[in-house]
Amino acid sequence: MRSVCLLLLSASMFFSALTAADDEATLLAFKAAATHGNADVLASWNGSSNGEYCSWEGVRCRGRHRRVVALNLPSHGLSGVLSPAIGNLSSLRILDLSSNELAGGIPANIGRLRHLHILNLSSNAFWGPLPVNMSSCTSLVFMVLGSNQLSGHVPTESGNKLLTLRILDLQKNNLTGSTPASLRNLSSLAVLTLAFNQLEGIIPG
Ligand SMILES: *[C@@H]1O[C@H](CO)[C@@H](O)[C@H](O)[C@H]1NC(C)=O
Ligand SMILES: *[C@@H]1O[C@H](CO)[C@@H](O)[C@H](O)[C@H]1NC(C)=O
Ligand SMILES: *[C@@H]1O[C@H](CO)[C@@H](O)[C@H](O)[C@H]1NC(C)=O
Ligand SMILES: *[C@@H]1O[C@H](CO)[C@@H](O)[C@H](O)[C@H]1NC(C)=O
Ligand SMILES: *[C@@H]1O[C@H](CO)[C@@H](O)[C@H](O)[C@H]1NC(C)=O
Ligand SMILES: *[C@@H]1O[C@H](CO)[C@@H](O)[C@H](O)[C@H]1NC(C)=O
Repeated sequence: MRSVCLLLLSASMFFSALTAADDEATLLAFKAAATHGNADVLASWNGSSNGEYCSWEGVRCRGRHRRVVALNLPSHGLSGVLSPAIGNLSSLRILDLSSNELAGGIPANIGRLRHLHILNLSSNAFWGPLPVNMSSCTSLVFMVLGSNQLSGHVPTESGNKLLTLRILDLQKNNLTGSTPASLRNLSSLAVLTLAFNQLEGIIPG
């Protein structure tokens, strides 16, 4: 019994150390990708140890394991790209990078964030397709991707799993094709904004 307890204790210590270290490494990967050409934007994000990253600007942690639950950096003059490592912040609930100058694609890894409630990437320079597979994001309430240069179709898969989604804002992009019928499966949806795109065809009933 005693050795089982010791084993569990050391396993949990190992686990918490591992996840905290992972979150710090992920934040540093985010910084390296996002502050291209403007290193001062996240000057407070320096590689100190022992959960210090929880007090970095825009970062909020929660719990004994000091997992990152929010990344709030709107209007911070961030440029560069959004690192695919973001998908490793597995406790993340809020990702607000709105009103920056981030470009490149929205990493597909966003779709791994199963606790994500708020995704706000509006008013950046993201281009390329919408994330196709958000089926793990079963907590998503706000998905705000307006005012970018996103192109391609609205994925037909949209809507089948995002049952908590209340706001879907895709306005002011360069989306083409028809509006998928699956959107009517977004049973919690209160606001759908598709204005200023090149969408065509009928709007699902
Ligand atoms: C690291 O950031 C802290 C603020 O969080 C600042 O006081 C300190 O000077 C920074 N250290 C370096 C080496 O930039
Ligand atoms: C996510 O974390 C895993 C495990 O630590 C690592 O192997 C992988 O490279 C990370 N992914 C990215 C995109 O950094
Ligand atoms: C998204 O960000 C924009 C710009 O910062 C802000 O005006 C808007 O309220 C945000 N929306 C949500 C749902 O957080
Ligand atoms: C979507 O992602 C989940 C894991 O996040 C995976 O299990 C599933 O197979 C993916 N579906 C497609 C169509 O890629
Ligand atoms: C929008 O898409 C069209 C057709 O793919 C392309 O010619 C145009 O340059 C795009 N506009 C922007 C602002 O990305
Ligand atoms: C809506 O969801 C149901 C159940 O998941 C599915 O059978 C149906 O095909 C979906 N409707 C559309 C239009 O995608």
